[in-house]
Amino acid sequence: MKGTIGVFDSGLGGLTVVRHLRRLLPGADIVYFGDTARLPYGSKSPETVIRFSRENCEFLLSHNVAMIIVACNTSSAIALDTLRREYKIQIHGVVAPGARRAADLTRNRMIGVIGTHATIRSRAYDREFAKMGGSIKVVSRACPLFVPLAEEGWLDRPATVEIAREYLLPLKEEGIDVLVLGCTHYPILTQTVRRVLGEGISLVDSGLSCAEAVRDQIGDGERGVEGGRVRYFVTDMPERFKEIGRIFMGEEIAEVSVVHPRAG
Ligand code: DGL
Repeated sequence: MKGTIGVFDSGLGGLTVVRHLRRLLPGADIVYFGDTARLPYGSKSPETVIRFSRENCEFLLSHNVAMIIVACNTSSAIALDTLRREYKIQIHGVVAPGARRAADLTRNRMIGVIGTHATIRSRAYDREFAKMGGSIKVVSRACPLFVPLAEEGWLDRPATVEIAREYLLPLKEEGIDVLVLGCTHYPILTQTVRRVLGEGISLVDSGLSCAEAVRDQIGDGERGVEGGRVRYFVTDMPERFKEIGRIFMGEEIAEVSVVHPRAG
């Protein structure tokens, strides 16, 4: 594939996907759009998430992207089908690749899924697993407090571990052997999740699975070549995006532009 990859998220969590894309496709040019003015999406209605997601696609299309990655789990869970119907461009989400990876890993067919309230309520992961033959049992749970904890950089504080125990131990007791981290922010908390669940449960980063699916689909042209460029756009608070984004990206974010796509 030739051309720029557009990535959007409700804020900065989607940088976890960009980080994987940079590693897997170092030659790819990326435009990242984080809707920081309207975050969080996870507590919004489906109608609102679809409207915002549509506007985010319009912004990326105005930058002539060749493909769009919906890095936000909430948007992927709720808006992906609508976006694919409305736009001719190729659009990748994070739910299906994450579900596929989890199905490959499970041995006892008991899979846990965690995400925002909106993602869990949408049952999007359940539908993906149902397409795979139906014998997978899904145990899901919304973990909304993980988002602000990750954004505060409280990755392994005692309070974070305590909240993780409260959220995750019931899933462990149900007997899951795989847990899907179905939210952009959760991979940042992997160490704490692992500490609470122990080594016996495999973790799936749906953002990583999505980046791998895109890498597999794109031709060899952009692999192994350094020099791809990332441009960052947000709708508010660029300084905070840079500061916290460093944790998500694992590297400095040099320049961030503020845009107001609807006004334009
Ligand atoms: N990006 C969202 C997700 O992956 C988490 C933050 C939000 O609620 O907007 O579901």
